[in-house]
Amino acid sequence: MKNNNKEICILGLGYVGLTLSATLADLGFKITGVEIRKKILDDLQNKRPHFYEPNLNKILKKIISNKNFKFYNKIPHNWAGNTYIITVGTPLDENGNSRVDLIKNVSKEVKNSIKDNGLVILRSTVKVGTTRNIVKKIIEKKIKKFDIAFCPERTQEGKALTEVKKIPQIIGGLDRKSAERARNIFKKVTKTNLIVSSLETAELIKLVDNSQRDVYFSYANEIAKICDELKISATEVINTGKFKYGRTNLAFPGPVGGPCLIKDTYILNESLNNKKLKPNIALAARNINENLTKDIVLQLRSELKKRYKKVDKISLLGFAFKGNPPTDDTRDSISIKFYQEIKKKFPKSDISIYDSLVKDDDYIHFGFKKSNNINQSFKNANIIIILNNHKIFKNLNLKEKSKLMKSKGIIYDCWNLFDKKRLNLKRNVVYSAFGNI
Ligand SMILES: NC(=O)c1ccc[n+]([C@@H]2O[C@H](COP(=O)([O-])OP(=O)(O)OC[C@H]3O[C@@H](n4cnc5c(N)ncnc54)[C@H](O)[C@@H]3O)[C@@H](O)[C@H]2O)c1
Repeated sequence: MKNNNKEICILGLGYVGLTLSATLADLGFKITGVEIRKKILDDLQNKRPHFYEPNLNKILKKIISNKNFKFYNKIPHNWAGNTYIITVGTPLDENGNSRVDLIKNVSKEVKNSIKDNGLVILRSTVKVGTTRNIVKKIIEKKIKKFDIAFCPERTQEGKALTEVKKIPQIIGGLDRKSAERARNIFKKVTKTNLIVSSLETAELIKLVDNSQRDVYFSYANEIAKICDELKISATEVINTGKFKYGRTNLAFPGPVGGPCLIKDTYILNESLNNKKLKPNIALAARNINENLTKDIVLQLRSELKKRYKKVDKISLLGFAFKGNPPTDDTRDSISIKFYQEIKKKFPKSDISIYDSLVKDDDYIHFGFKKSNNINQSFKNANIIIILNNHKIFKNLNLKEKSKLMKSKGIIYDCWNLFDKKRLNLKRNVVYSAFGNI
C-alpha cells in the first residue's frame, strides 16, 4: 500500500464503524476514527469498546497501542489522508421516516476536509438515491474532482469481525474508477468483491437483503399463529415438512427485532416514495412481525386469567434483540415492547427482566426492573416468558426451575427452545411455546 492510501477516516464509531476500524487497522491501515458521542471516546481512551463483540476488545488494545487507530470528536484539521468512510446511523424518526440529518451533517464535515481526488464511501443503510442525491451533492459544493461509492455493511452483530472477512463486499461506484478505488480497500479485507452497475444497485441490494429476512421470519410467525389456532405443532409442521425436502425453506418462528430489521423495510418503502408501486409483501411481513408482541401478550393474559385471580410476578428472560449470536444490543429489541405491553396489561404485577449481557444503563434508560439471576426470575413467578434464544435459556433445567415457581405457573417460550413432550415440570407448571400451545 502507498502511504497515503493507507490513511482512512471512518466517521461514526458505532457497531459498524468500530468493527470496520478494528478490521482495517489490524490489516495495517492507518485509521482516524471520528465520533461525536463522548462515552464512546472515553471508552476508547481506556482501550475498550462500548458494546460486546467477540475479540473486539483484544484487537482494539493492539491497534490503539500500535497507533494504527486514533480517534477524535471531529476530523483533525490537517489530517493527511483523503479517503472517508461514512458509517453513521439511519434510524427511523418519530414519523417512521429514516433520518437523513446524520448523513447530511457528516457529509458537510467531509466536504470541509476533502481535497481534490478524494474518495468517499458510504456504508450506512440508506434510501435508494442517498449517495448520489445527498452525499455527492453536498461535497460537490466544494470540489468537483472526487470519487464516491456505496459499500453496504452486511455483517451481523456478534459475528461482525469474522464475517467481514468472509462475506462478499458489494461495491457500487459513481463510475468504474470510483468502484475500483473502493475495491482496492476492500480487497484487503475479503476475497470476493462484487462491483455492481450503479450506486443505486448497491443501495437496493442491502435493503432487499434485509427486508427478505423480515419476510422469511414473518412467514414462520404466520405459520406459528395458524398452528396455535388449529392446535397443531408448528415445530412438527416445519421440521417434518423440510426434512430432506430442499424445496421447503422455512425459518423457525420467534419474535424478531433489532436496529436493522425493524427499519430497512420502511427504508425500502421510502425508496419508492414518488412511485406508484409499494413493496407490499415486505410491508405485510413487517406488520406481522410488529404485531406479534400484542398478539402473544393477549393470548398469555387470557391463559393467566384462567389460572389466577391475581398475577403477582411476571419474569421475562432475554433483553437483547437476539440471543444467537449473543449480543448486548437492546436497540429495537422486541423485549422492550413486550415489557411495556405486559406492564400495561398487568399494572399491579411485579415485572422484571433478566439478561446477563445487557448493561445496567439500559435497564435504567427504559425504567425496567432488573432480575439479577435466573433463580431470582423463577422464584414465585406466575409466568416466565423466554424472549430471546440465548443458549443460557436453552440449557435451563426447567424441571428444577419449575419447583421455584408458583403452583400452576406457565413457562412461555417464544423460541421453542424445548421439546414439550420431554419436559417433566413440577408444581403443575405448564410449558407452552409460540406455535406449540
Ligand atoms: N449494526 C449492524 O450490525 C449493522 C449491520 C448492517 C448495516 N448497518 C447500518 O449501518 C449504519 C450504522 O449502524 P450502527 O449500528 O453502527 O449505528 P450506531 O448508531 O451504533 O453508530 C453510528 C455512530 O455514528 C455516530 N455519529 C453520528 N453523527 C456523527 C458525526 N457527524 N460524526 C461522527 N460520528 C457521528 C453516532 O454517535 C454513533 O455512535 C446504519 O445505517 C445501519 O442500518 C448496521
